[in-house]
Amino acid sequence: MSAIPSNSDPRLEAAAASDDSIQRVHAGLLHTKPEPEPGGYALAPLLLLGLMSGLILGCCIFFVQNRGAFDPLVYNGHLNTKPGEGPVVLPPEQIIAKGKSLYAQTCIQCHMADGKGVPGKYPPLAGSDIVNGSEDRVIRILLHGLKDPITLNGATFTTSEKMPPFGPGMPGGLYNYSDAKISYVLSYVRSDFGNKSALVEESKVTEVHKQVAARTTSWTMSELPASP
Ligand code: HEC
Repeated sequence: MSAIPSNSDPRLEAAAASDDSIQRVHAGLLHTKPEPEPGGYALAPLLLLGLMSGLILGCCIFFVQNRGAFDPLVYNGHLNTKPGEGPVVLPPEQIIAKGKSLYAQTCIQCHMADGKGVPGKYPPLAGSDIVNGSEDRVIRILLHGLKDPITLNGATFTTSEKMPPFGPGMPGGLYNYSDAKISYVLSYVRSDFGNKSALVEESKVTEVHKQVAARTTSWTMSELPASP
């Protein structure tokens, strides 16, 4: 135990003396800055905290409102529009690419990757005279869906399955596609699977959509305009 210094250790006395002087210096310093009252808050940091929280909240609200459901197909009006003009039409290869990606998300599960459908259940889009026929008719089918037996390529196609509505505002509708999306996916199915029909412009979808905006049920074949 000889390692512990005794009280008479001269080094300890020196340290204690300097300790005292340190204490005095500290005491002096402590008086220059008043201690905050217990439980009291300084006003300035509180105001700053409020401002920063408001700013962060504001950013979150802006972000949530403008996130476009993180959909890469959401139309960006700032990107493509010049004053006085409507949306600029995308180049055909971009329209087809967007349509192809929509097809892969939805249509593919019934009409299949090769567009040939499932015999007796889901009709083919490949070589279909509905797909390649009147735009007025096929746009209506995409907007509101189709039920009951159909005439396809001159033959009756019966199935208990229905073609779901892809447009907005249909009771039980799942997809709520914009006119642009409908034009993309239709343009795609009219130019793949061996089909070689013209692309469907967004303005054409909008025109047809206006004519049938009030509709809330799926079409039957006899209600639809015949192909020219
Ligand atoms: C849940 C299955 C299902 C999905 C998903 C689906 N369809 Fe259909 N589709 C059908 C059925 C069933 C019919 C036939 C309805 C009938 O006979 O009344 C049909 C008919 C059609 C027709 C008319 C008949 C033909 O073969 O030309 C077109 C065009 C069409 N679908 C396009 C599409 C496109 C484009 C998509 C994706 C955006 C799509 N469908 C998604 C089931 C589906």
